[in-house]
Order: sequence, then C-alpha cells, then structure tokens
Amino acid sequence: MTGRICGTGSAVPKLRVTNDDLSKIMDTSDEWIKSRTGIEARHLATEETTTSLAIEASRLALENAGVEAEELDLIIAATVSSDHIIPTLSCEVQSALGAVNATAFDIGAACSGFLFALSTVQAYMMSGQCKKALILGAEVLSKIMDWNDRSTCVLFGDGAGAAVISAEDTGIMSVVHGSDGAKGMVLACDNRPVNNPYKKTTADLSYVSMNGQEVYKFAVRTVPKCIEQALEQAGVTADEISCFILHQANRRIIEAVAKRLKQPIEKFPMNLMECGNISAASVPILLDNVNRHGMIEKEEKIVLAGFGAGLTWGAAVLTW
Ligand code: ACO
Repeated sequence: MTGRICGTGSAVPKLRVTNDDLSKIMDTSDEWIKSRTGIEARHLATEETTTSLAIEASRLALENAGVEAEELDLIIAATVSSDHIIPTLSCEVQSALGAVNATAFDIGAACSGFLFALSTVQAYMMSGQCKKALILGAEVLSKIMDWNDRSTCVLFGDGAGAAVISAEDTGIMSVVHGSDGAKGMVLACDNRPVNNPYKKTTADLSYVSMNGQEVYKFAVRTVPKCIEQALEQAGVTADEISCFILHQANRRIIEAVAKRLKQPIEKFPMNLMECGNISAASVPILLDNVNRHGMIEKEEKIVLAGFGAGLTWGAAVLTW
C-alpha cells in the first residue's frame, strides 16, 4: 500500500506586485530581479492570512478529489509562517473544514516541507494507520521579510497549495530526503528569545536573512543528486519522467538541475515568474497549476522536489 495524489488545490492573495512596482518603493529593477531569478511578479497578502489561504487551497483540493472532509484521517500542514504558534495551522484547517475524524499536525521543514509531509503520509499509509490524508504547504512569507533588504524581499511571495492523498496500490513510488543542520545559518530567521522571570531578554523582531550564493551552490549540488536517488529507488529513469515539479526558488537553479539530469527544460514547468518563491507552498501550488491545466495524464510518472532552509531537501517519484 502507498499513497496516491487524487486531488489538488491552491490559493494566492489578490494583490499582484510586479518587479516594477517594487522598484518604486526600493532600489531595485525588473532587469536585476528577472535576469538573476526569472521572477517577474509575486502575490502578497493584504486581507489574506496563512490560515485563510491554507483553508481555501484545502477546500479546492477536496473538491478536486471528490473527497468529503469527514473522510480524512490525517492532515499535515507544512509552514514556517503560521499565524499562531498554537493552535497549529493544521488544526485550524481541520476545524474550518469540519474534518472531525482527522489527526492534524504541522511540519516545519521550510521549502522541503511538502515533500516531508508526503513522505510522512506514505509511511502512515504503508503501516495501515491512514487511508485518506490532506497535506498542504502555506506561507505568508511577506510578514517575515526585511523590506529594507532588497537582496531577500524581492525573491519571495505568499500562497498555499494542498493535495488529497488516498491509500492505493500505486502512487508514491519513492521518497528520499535529508538535512544538513550544520549549514543552517545560510538561510535563517530567529523566533522569540528566552524571556522569563529568571532571564530577561529584549530583542527586535527577526527577519529572514540569506547567503544567496551559498544557497545557490547547495541547491545545484544537492537537488540533482536527490532526484537521482529517488529515481533509482523507484527503478525509473529520468527519461521516463514526464514532468519535474521543483521548488520555485530560481530559474537558474531549475535550469542547472535540468542540465545535470540531461532533460529538456520543457519538462520543468515553472510558475516562479508569477509567484516568486513561496517556500513550502511552491511545490503544491505548481502541482495544482499543472494538474488543472491537464498537463499530466493518468499513469504518467512525475518527480516532485523541494530544497531549502535547514538545510533540507527531498524528492519523490509518483505515478499520477
Ligand atoms: N536589486 C538590485 N540590486 C541588488 C538587489 C536587488 N533586489 N539585491 C542585491 N543587489 C545587489 C547587491 O547589493 C550587489 O551589489 P554590489 O555588487 O554593489 O555589492 C549585487 O546586486 C550582487 O549581489 P549578489 O548577492 O552577489 O547577487 P547574485 O548574483 O549572487 O544574485 C541571488 C543573488 C539572486 C539571491 C543569487 O545568489 C541566487 O539566486 N541565490 C539562490 C538563492 C535563492 O534562490 N534563495 C531563495 C530562497 S532559498 C530556497 O528557497 C532554496
């Protein structure tokens, strides 16, 4: 028994902000952002929250799968920007959906979060603990960006993506993942410091900081290797894959991965031009875009891959 994705959904905030819009409020340009990353616009939350986007994407995924909320026995939300420390995002989604039979918890693995959630669901399904699951990635990264740091804030966007997974004989063929905590500080954001009657600390709010070049080197080195491992474990060659859905950090990273795998770039759909990098939500939003545009046929084999802060990475081979 494994898990098979049977429905997807996604949601992005209404406000679309182009590179030119950003160049009016900071010292940047469309040319700089587009040439280095491929990003042309992103959606930023104004009325929306991480929770509202997650709920909308989840409802659409359930509808697309033809599954009732009461059928879910597991909900896993991947996020680094939930609205509350407690309750967790997954419990808020459970409540909004009325998924009264589900166990719900969150996973924090940044841009690899959706892959880690997928792997967890597969393990639950293989062990017979779960029959229908909802996994989602949701982020409002704009609230943890330093809007005075042009080298990071232009790269990211807000949104949510979700997938319904049912226990079946075919579907997820392999999932591999890993972490390298020793390199964690190349992409970091602090939580609250220790502050109690025995230790008083005052600190300014922390925002995302990034060593872009280190992240770039990590991604182009690790992602192809991880995908190759997932392909080997599934007993499938890269040529047999119809579609590689990668975390949408940067067009140049995706092009480098395609080259390493000796695959045409046309097999690597992208939405980073319109969405930027949405961490845990990137992979499920793109998966939903591809699914709703009918770009994958039933029984075709696809690859999903995430990579990012932690450092963390993960890849999966699926039969659609
Ligand atoms: N607009 C204009 N100029 C800028 C901007 C901006 N938004 N940001 C930085 N610059 C300037 C810098 O100040 C610097 O100027 P200087 O030479 O006068 O000091 C110059 O541009 C070059 O800066 P670099 O940081 O060297 O630019 P680089 O060519 O490395 O590109 C980038 C930066 C795009 C972040 C690149 O390193 C990259 O693609 N890294 C991958 C990281 C990534 O994609 N992270 C996403 C999050 S992680 C994840 O999801 C996996």
